[in-house]
Amino acid sequence: MKIVVIGGTGLIGSKLIARLTERRHEAIAASRTTGVNTLTGQGLAEVLEGAAVVVDVSNSPSFEDKAVLDFFQASTGNLLAAEAAAGVGHHVALSVVGIERLPENGYFRAKVAQEQLIKASPIPYSIVRATQFFEFVNSIADEATHGSTVRLAPVLFQPIAANDVASVVGRTAVGAPLNGTIEIAGPRQFRFDELIRMGLRARNDPREVVADPHARYFGAELSEGALVPDSAAQLGETRFEDWLSRSTPPFPQEDPMLAEIECALHEPPPLKDNEFRVADVPPGTAMLVGEVTVFNVDGAFCATQSKCTHRGGPLSKGKLDGSTVTCPFHGAQFNVCTGAVLRGPATVPLKIHRVILEGGVGRVEVEVLI
Ligand SMILES: NC(=O)c1ccc[n+]([C@@H]2O[C@H](COP(=O)([O-])OP(=O)(O)OC[C@H]3O[C@@H](n4cnc5c(N)ncnc54)[C@H](OP(=O)(O)O)[C@@H]3O)[C@@H](O)[C@H]2O)c1
Ligand code: FES
Repeated sequence: MKIVVIGGTGLIGSKLIARLTERRHEAIAASRTTGVNTLTGQGLAEVLEGAAVVVDVSNSPSFEDKAVLDFFQASTGNLLAAEAAAGVGHHVALSVVGIERLPENGYFRAKVAQEQLIKASPIPYSIVRATQFFEFVNSIADEATHGSTVRLAPVLFQPIAANDVASVVGRTAVGAPLNGTIEIAGPRQFRFDELIRMGLRARNDPREVVADPHARYFGAELSEGALVPDSAAQLGETRFEDWLSRSTPPFPQEDPMLAEIECALHEPPPLKDNEFRVADVPPGTAMLVGEVTVFNVDGAFCATQSKCTHRGGPLSKGKLDGSTVTCPFHGAQFNVCTGAVLRGPATVPLKIHRVILEGGVGRVEVEVLI
């Protein structure tokens, strides 16, 4: 079966393409990176030719209220029209649990508009509504950060692993159209602040998470059950704790007393915010130094901005191969010494900084080189 995945290069899309291909479907990733733009219509008619199913897991590059609404309205409208012309028999879309409960949230309003267009179209459809992805936890923390404090309402929260989302969307795509909506969520409910605190701690992130019943989530105050599904939801298998231990590097277990003695013996001079010890960054590894990531490229040090220019993926957690780093979020690749984009979905190069080495200590110059 030919299945076109709009947003097939994204977080969910790339996992979905892998699953469908494994099951011997002709799964085609369609996004701007592969020459298909749902906003301009570029490449749409060509890619939909002979397609039985279209899965839309695209996302707006901007989450600003008007931009995201414009994106989902225009993109979904163009897509449904092109599907009707191509005779596509099933439109599957990934949406979010609880979108109608939070009209103050601009992103949720845009997803409501997307769902309305799908339901009004003559094309048979299935909508899969998911709770927040585990992979989205960092972005949620960043959005709720004021200074060094993360403020979150202590409401119920039941996130799900992107892998589990891709499994359900894949099964839905190869099944008969539901002409309705299903909900999916993670296996366990948490308190919102509790889960984000766990996520930040596991990454050694020093931000303090504070439970504040009036804290807003992307502009909206939250009621107890606003983000969780009703009892009929399908549950993913992956537990947050297991996902966390697989997706974060293990911390070295030290004997605290030995570590204290070691410290007292050597007493290295304290580091400034923009400094690091060369010995702490062996070849082929990276380290976050303030707002910059330092990479050891076979003994030479290069430094770039810490966040991927696509959607803010943490480059210090990416795979470094020679001078190429792969973003852990959606797989964009950059040359860490020149900042150049080597592979999408990112299109904007990284800012790079000069690194100066002196007596076993590296110093990152604040000034941006490129
Ligand atoms: N994050 C969550 O917690 C959550 C929860 C529930 C549901 N969802 C939904 O899940 C869906 C997928 O999210 P995700 O995190 O996997 O998204 P993502 O990683 O940001 O990927 C977005 C995809 O959309 C493509 N895209 C963007 N603009 C496009 C355009 N004009 N034409 C064609 N393709 C375009 C991107 O590729 P290019 O850049 O190459 O174009 C990329 O492949 C979204 O609809 C979101 O609402 C998310
Ligand atoms: S955040 Fe998407 S590739 Fe880096």
